[in-house]
Amino acid sequence: MEKKVKELAALIKNSKHVVVLTGAGMDTESNIPDFRGKEGWWKNIDPRTVASIDTFRENYSLFHEFYSMRLKMLEGIKPHEGHFILAELESKGRIESIATQNVAGLHALAGSRKVYELHGNIRSIRCNSCNREAKVKNFLNKEKCKSCGGHLRPGVVLFGEMLPTEAWDSALNDIERADLLIVIGSSLEVYPVNQLPMLTKGKTVLINNEDRGGTGMFDLKIIGKAREVLDSCFRLIFSSTP
Ligand code: OAD
Repeated sequence: MEKKVKELAALIKNSKHVVVLTGAGMDTESNIPDFRGKEGWWKNIDPRTVASIDTFRENYSLFHEFYSMRLKMLEGIKPHEGHFILAELESKGRIESIATQNVAGLHALAGSRKVYELHGNIRSIRCNSCNREAKVKNFLNKEKCKSCGGHLRPGVVLFGEMLPTEAWDSALNDIERADLLIVIGSSLEVYPVNQLPMLTKGKTVLINNEDRGGTGMFDLKIIGKAREVLDSCFRLIFSSTP
């Protein structure tokens, strides 16, 4: 792994437009479970039965139960060293932006400024009918919208819904013109985000704790944990040895 991390550090040093794309594996070391990893959510639950727009419409109680549980699990959750390293790389001008599939907002909490939340944000509660904003506690208390009486929901993309256009367009624009795209902790099973690595003209790197196969198109693959790899890479980029 050490040799590959050196290659990554060199790539970052020699690139002008570096974009990072993160998935649930970026957040597991902050104690947020992923979806398709060894102990992921979707090992036991079919996502379409809880996290789809059909469930929202047809079985709001189940939808509400699932997202209440996920929101409660996020209480007290903090970014880890890897999130802080990405924020510092941005502030030092080494990376341009982060596109993320994660909905817990840990990149922004760590100080990253240019973050495209492609699957939304779980704490942005709104009414599904009229879009009026509400608070997390309104959702947890299963209150109705104060304007129209509609059901409240977290601002996440549900199965069967489109991605937020602005975040998608901005991410696509940055990725298309990037000379380096670093994907961290994603199974790349979910469309359309899994298309993004194919849409860059730049070099591509995948950091994941397991080799899932089907990722042969990456120029460099590092099998390791996000936090450890980012930490080693950061030290190499800023070490004084030439
Ligand atoms: P997945 O759970 O599908 O993939 C996460 C990947 O990260 C797995 O391959 C894990 O092995 C790996 N991983 C776990 N911990 C890691 C660590 N510490 N370091 C490196 N890798 C690690 O998550 P995503 O690809 O993000 O969508 O899933 C995409 C979408 O599927 C999610 O945004 C969610 C889900 O359904 C919606 O809810 C719309």
